[in-house]
Amino acid sequence: RSTAVILVAAGRGERAGASIEGPKQYRTIGGKPVILHTVQKFRTYLPNATIVMVIHPDDEQLLAKALKSIAHLKDELIVTHGGKTRQQSALAGLHALKALTPDTVLIHDAVRPFFDQMLLDRITKALDEGADAVLPAMPVADTLKRGNHDGFVSDTVSRAGLFAAQTPQSFNYAKILNAHEKAAASGQDDFTDDAAIAEWAGMPVQLVEGRADNIKLTVKRDIEMADARLSTTLL
Ligand code: C5P
Repeated sequence: RSTAVILVAAGRGERAGASIEGPKQYRTIGGKPVILHTVQKFRTYLPNATIVMVIHPDDEQLLAKALKSIAHLKDELIVTHGGKTRQQSALAGLHALKALTPDTVLIHDAVRPFFDQMLLDRITKALDEGADAVLPAMPVADTLKRGNHDGFVSDTVSRAGLFAAQTPQSFNYAKILNAHEKAAASGQDDFTDDAAIAEWAGMPVQLVEGRADNIKLTVKRDIEMADARLSTTLL
């Protein structure tokens, strides 16, 4: 089975204070840019996969700098430009693979550097068993509240059966491309993950166990915690 990986990395990272410090995917944790951690893990765990990096057009230099230590592998990476929403960026990544038409594509947030081989193994097993769409997710642990506009709780939402979605999400390439193109043609552009597009298009999405550590580095504090974690020998 031929496999490709799309790393969506075209976000501006406003929630992490990007205006001052630059987008979070290029920040350094444990002495290495976040995006380099992510690329290197995929190269190690899936050595035969084609890797597509979807970046913001303004970030060419940031990317070159972040990947300097693996500059000799540059020809093995496909770099393309993303869009205004994550959905548009993922579709740009899928389009960049059209000539190659892999059997399977994994779509991953570049700002999640903490996935591991075991998580990929669970995804691969589900694919081997015939799934067309696989979503790693964790059962929600916190009690959930719906807030009203005045800052008070309106009610408690049952967490039974609720999961927090992670990436990488894995799909049959032709089917997710089709679902994405249909979603775009119908004028929708703000699905926040690719599994949601698969669901919208009627594809069954199989849940596999995620990884508690596989967090999306979203706010400044996440970057600081990740850096601290990688910089201590205790963890
Ligand atoms: O904004 P959000 O937390 O959903 O971002 C998740 C991932 O999607 C990040 O890696 C970010 O760079 C990427 N993204 C993108 N294009 C956008 C918005 C987000 O590639 N327009």
